[in-house]
Amino acid sequence: MSALKLLTCIGLEETTARSALENPKLLSDLIAIIQEAGVDNGCDKHIGKLLYTVAARYMNGHRPQHLSTVLRYIASGKMRSHQLEAALEYITAARRESVDLAKFERACGIVPLEDVKAAVDTVINRNKEKLLAERYAAFKLSALVAQVRELQPHADHRDVKAALDGQLYELLGEKTGDAHKSRKTNKARVPEQLPEEDLDPFSSFPSPLDNTGPHVDVELSDGTVFRPSNSREKLEKHLSATGGAVVTRFPPEPNGYSHLGHGKAMGMNFGFACEANGKCYLRLDDTNPEGESDEFTANIQDMVQWLGWKPFKVTYCSDYFEELYEKAVELIKRGYAYVDHQTPAEVKEYREKLLESPWRNRPIDESLELFEQMRAGAVPEGQATLRMKQDMKSNNGNMLDLVAYRIKFASHPRTKDKWCIYPTYDYSHCIVDSLENITHSLCTLEFETRRVSYYWLLDKLDMYLPYVWEYGRLNVSNNLLSKRKLKYLVDKQMVDGWDDPRLLTLAGLRRRGVPPNAINNFCRALGRTRSDNLISTDLVDHFVREELNKTAPRTMVVFQPLKVTIINFEGHEQDQVVEAKRFPDANSPTYKIPFTKTIYIERTDFREHDSKDYYGLSKGKSVLLRYAFPITCVDYVCVDGEVVELLATYDPLKAIKPKGVIHWVPEAAPGTKQLTVEVRLFGKLFKSEDPRLHSNWLEDFNPQSKEVINDAVALHCLKDVKCGDCFQFERKGYFVVDRDSSSCKTVFNRIVALKSSFRG
Ligand SMILES: *[C@@H]1O[C@H](CO)[C@@H](O)[C@H](O)[C@H]1NC(C)=O
Ligand SMILES: *[C@@H]1O[C@H](CO)[C@@H](O)[C@H](O)[C@H]1NC(C)=O
Ligand SMILES: *[C@@H]1O[C@H](CO)[C@@H](O)[C@H](O)[C@H]1NC(C)=O
Repeated sequence: MSALKLLTCIGLEETTARSALENPKLLSDLIAIIQEAGVDNGCDKHIGKLLYTVAARYMNGHRPQHLSTVLRYIASGKMRSHQLEAALEYITAARRESVDLAKFERACGIVPLEDVKAAVDTVINRNKEKLLAERYAAFKLSALVAQVRELQPHADHRDVKAALDGQLYELLGEKTGDAHKSRKTNKARVPEQLPEEDLDPFSSFPSPLDNTGPHVDVELSDGTVFRPSNSREKLEKHLSATGGAVVTRFPPEPNGYSHLGHGKAMGMNFGFACEANGKCYLRLDDTNPEGESDEFTANIQDMVQWLGWKPFKVTYCSDYFEELYEKAVELIKRGYAYVDHQTPAEVKEYREKLLESPWRNRPIDESLELFEQMRAGAVPEGQATLRMKQDMKSNNGNMLDLVAYRIKFASHPRTKDKWCIYPTYDYSHCIVDSLENITHSLCTLEFETRRVSYYWLLDKLDMYLPYVWEYGRLNVSNNLLSKRKLKYLVDKQMVDGWDDPRLLTLAGLRRRGVPPNAINNFCRALGRTRSDNLISTDLVDHFVREELNKTAPRTMVVFQPLKVTIINFEGHEQDQVVEAKRFPDANSPTYKIPFTKTIYIERTDFREHDSKDYYGLSKGKSVLLRYAFPITCVDYVCVDGEVVELLATYDPLKAIKPKGVIHWVPEAAPGTKQLTVEVRLFGKLFKSEDPRLHSNWLEDFNPQSKEVINDAVALHCLKDVKCGDCFQFERKGYFVVDRDSSSCKTVFNRIVALKSSFRG
């Protein structure tokens, strides 16, 4: 079998498969992995995708000893994409020791089907009376799923749904007779990528009123297990401050421009608070003075506002530097932190060997004194850190005595030179969440493994524990969302600044003309799942079109004009006027277009050599001019082999009914200048679907991603437009007036083509 065939038979898309073929290292690993998984005769594409992810992961590194265990689970269909990370982490940590499958399953959150069925049983029994009385109308399926999830929070969504469907059917039989409308009826046109989980996880979050704790066991390597919880007293104190409201936060770091991934994070955090009638903080996570700036802070606030979210309060992590310091002192006093002098390389080596730092067990007083000296600036940078005293034998890398504070003699945008020690994310994030009385702390999946240390630290400080939940991180095909790489493109001027319309920064999307609603709808459609997928740009485009179809008035612009003279046209231009519609609806507003003896059509709408399946113009052929008349081409004029003019007749009675309809622009009235505009078309920023897998991502940059058309001819009514106005250029796509426009020339950006098959 050819390599390409092998890759497509495991369900990879052809573009992905082809780019793998160009990467010999990845290809050989991938083939080996497919064979090892035993799916070389084909498998579900969900399985194929996971195998691909695994191959890409270990392309340049050492495969862990027990990878075959993970491959077996993948091949059996038991492993879902959101479990992969934990699975790989588990076997990596296991190193050479044998893997206990029960523990392994628990670590990745694979819940056996029997347990799911048992939970469904309990829920159905609990609601039996109501179900029998009111049948399918008794509950929304999502409400039942939520109840099952309370019992089995990590069960596979499809297992839950299938088990529920099955048991409901057993209990109630067919849905016939139940007035049940499918919620999917309007969704038919959405591209296939929408996640399988269409149920709302928000409904399964605990209420702040009974958030007694995460109900997650923290298992330490010495065999002790503890379950952090909010005591009645702690919970009551919390409730007296919040009144039981839902409180969330959107916590970006101001070290770059916000991008689509932040749009998703906003949708989760602001969205959940908004639906629950709660509050959401905008909290700038400014704990690292290097690389953070007021410019980025301003952009974040701007974008939050642009997407329509209203923060309850804007806070900064640095507002809490004093409290964070006091908590650190407290932590040292309680015996859970120490001042360490290991270099980063030593820390790394000791973690790998699960060895304790020689400073770990120094007296508490010594750490207290040194920490005070660190704060006072008496210890040089790099000579000491404050580390949490967690669990140096843990399987979980995030329990290996994470650094809480490091010394940086850097001026901070807000606290200036007041501090020379700065807290880490791992130390500050959970504490500030708790100080702000956040009830639900939502973050992306890669933070899932940090949950344990999050709870560990709050537990050791005896602070209120928010409910933590992770959602899938957003990746979009043919583009990048890494702040570091975005910054590189901007700094090297490969793109025109942070708001280049080709970038998926929110500023870039805004400049491109993408309506904020489209972004929110897109994020909403995929934001509530835990799956971590590479989302196709087509899906973004779908939501953009859906929104603009409703809001962007129609107009006509010809990109490469070809002159047409209508030889049977009589009378004056002023006499002939046609009416065009702004929107497709029957009762749309209309506007007038003069019909003139000379008009312009798109060069590509004429062919010298006709063919049967061609509906454009050709000698002897007719087309309908949109909103006007049918014309028939009778001849054409060539100069140096190039067609420069068509001669046509028009049919004022509209008796001819041509199949093709084309757009056109009339000649400007005598004494006025023909309106020409600049049009910018944008293509894919990177050539391959997943540029991160390219051995050198920069080589994958598409230098043809921007095309400029200088002299497109436009309807005269486009003369007085202003920056940000959106239009549909009929047959061409949606366009927005760019801020580069001047009184001499209007510049339009193409927001999106009308169909995804459109060139570009
Ligand atoms: C958070 O709750 C505590 C009580 O647990 C209260 O003292 C504090 O003022 C609250 N903080 C905020 C920012 O709401
Ligand atoms: C998404 O992107 C992140 C960061 O670049 C990466 O770690 C992760 O594996 C990606 N996930 C998928 C499914 O592509
Ligand atoms: C655009 O909106 C009209 C109604 O105004 C609707 O009939 C049409 O199907 C929509 N087109 C697309 C592509 O969604």
